[in-house]
Amino acid sequence: MEKVRRSLVFITTPLLCLLLLSLVYTLQFGSLVLPSNQWEKLRTNSGGNRVEDQENLHFLLKRLVKGENQTQLEAIGFACHSDPHTDVCVSNRPVRIDTLTMKVYAPLREGMPQANRIIRPYAKKDDDWIQGHVSPVQILQGNISSLPACRYTHDVPAIVFSSIGASGNVFHEFSELIIPLFLTSRLFQSRLRIIITDFKPRFFIKYKKIFSRLSSYEVINPAANVSVHCFPGAVVGLHYHYRLALNASDIPGGYSMLDFKQFLRESFNLKILDLSQMEKPVLVLMSRTKSRAFLNEDQMVTMMKELGFRVVVPKPDMMANLDKFAELLNSCSVLVGAHGAGLTNEIFLPEGAVMVQVVGLDLDWASGAYYGEPAIEMGLNYIKYKIEPEESSLISLYGRDDPIVADPASITPTKGYLFARAVYLDQQNFNISVVRFRETLIKALGLLGRSAPLD
Ligand SMILES: *[C@@H]1O[C@H](CO)[C@@H](O)[C@H](O)[C@H]1NC(C)=O
Ligand SMILES: *[C@@H]1O[C@H](CO)[C@@H](O)[C@H](O)[C@H]1NC(C)=O
Ligand SMILES: *[C@@H]1O[C@H](CO)[C@@H](O)[C@H](O)[C@H]1NC(C)=O
Ligand SMILES: *[C@@H]1O[C@H](CO)[C@@H](O)[C@H](O)[C@H]1NC(C)=O
Ligand SMILES: *[C@@H]1O[C@H](CO)[C@@H](O)[C@H](O)[C@H]1NC(C)=O
Repeated sequence: MEKVRRSLVFITTPLLCLLLLSLVYTLQFGSLVLPSNQWEKLRTNSGGNRVEDQENLHFLLKRLVKGENQTQLEAIGFACHSDPHTDVCVSNRPVRIDTLTMKVYAPLREGMPQANRIIRPYAKKDDDWIQGHVSPVQILQGNISSLPACRYTHDVPAIVFSSIGASGNVFHEFSELIIPLFLTSRLFQSRLRIIITDFKPRFFIKYKKIFSRLSSYEVINPAANVSVHCFPGAVVGLHYHYRLALNASDIPGGYSMLDFKQFLRESFNLKILDLSQMEKPVLVLMSRTKSRAFLNEDQMVTMMKELGFRVVVPKPDMMANLDKFAELLNSCSVLVGAHGAGLTNEIFLPEGAVMVQVVGLDLDWASGAYYGEPAIEMGLNYIKYKIEPEESSLISLYGRDDPIVADPASITPTKGYLFARAVYLDQQNFNISVVRFRETLIKALGLLGRSAPLD
């Protein structure tokens, strides 16, 4: 073979081209290392390969497991990925899913020993509450004697996950469900069936635009569609990278945060605004009431308006309607808020916008890890406003000299995480120095290419 190849090189150029073409083809399906233009073709589906093509389906599924498990997937049609955050099992052969019992009947390969596996398909393995509440999915493999008959036969693969953690907190919903679903399923180009266990109607309605962009088919709620569904392949569980994060190099042909933001713009039909052309820059102030509240919010708003901003303080009903809220955020130049789930909305800001996070006592690490670092990944300008002890309500509760105020870093090591959490996350409110915060907003205006006060 090698000899034949070598001699071919010396024959005519057209033959050489043919050889190269076939080599590229082998590369495409034999290995996960593709030149970037090939990934681009898969993404835009302009290569003409549909998921229904067995070969293409195998290729897309193989990306979801690693190392020796890729070899196993090819050999027996079933393999899993496992890391500290999540388990993802993949079948590239036909499966039957009984939605009554959430049993997945996986490949019946001759001679393969029978095996059972229980997956709790929520991308947060380290959360005990989740682990205790998520409905298990049982995967049965091997020689199964009583295989249920197919009631519905689908021609695209299934992706199964639980929405147990969706309770209205937008951070958890994006970080543990929407982003993991996106990075696990996007390359299937909407040719897949989404099955959501522990189905939460409000979550489903809130993110309907995202589901309908990720899949061309109706989402299946097992409790509402008790039947046996058959698929040419399946994925149980979602990949997870980090808080509000996508690691483009973790899955071959993977997506970045900027890809995800582009996907959101398409899903919610957001017009990309050129921020510099807006007459009056919009400032959205995320208001909190139970903890980490701004005690002098009115004063802050007055100062913001004096600087020339159109200030919007969203009410809870406005935030519940994500379609409308996303539109507002897309026209927003500066998002201001204290560390908390509301800052997740930074995900809808246009590139070049500014996120200003008010960082309370002892909240430096969490503020950076949850919202600050993701902001930078999103192409936003990030400004951290670290409060002075005088701006924390803890000073009136404990006094200036208590270690809680004077030395916050000593509290977790001496009193424990739960104590620190109760104090700094749950008891702390802010009385912001308007003079100092004004300087921060002038800096934000500078990043937007404007000077203040605006005319
Ligand atoms: C491969 O699969 C096995 C069995 O499911 C699992 O224990 C292991 O962690 C997997 N390896 C990787 C790299 O995911
Ligand atoms: C499958 O199991 C049945 C009994 O449950 C047995 O009779 C049959 O020989 C098995 N087939 C294979 C291929 O192992
Ligand atoms: C169950 O799912 C199948 C396949 O998607 C669909 O045709 C059927 O209408 C669904 N039934 C109900 C009750 O939703
Ligand atoms: C991204 O994924 C790659 C491959 O799994 C890994 O080597 C790298 O450390 C990850 N990057 C981050 C920031 O986690
Ligand atoms: C906030 O601090 C100012 C002084 O800096 C004080 O006059 C005001 O009463 C405080 N407001 C609240 C709500 O604590």
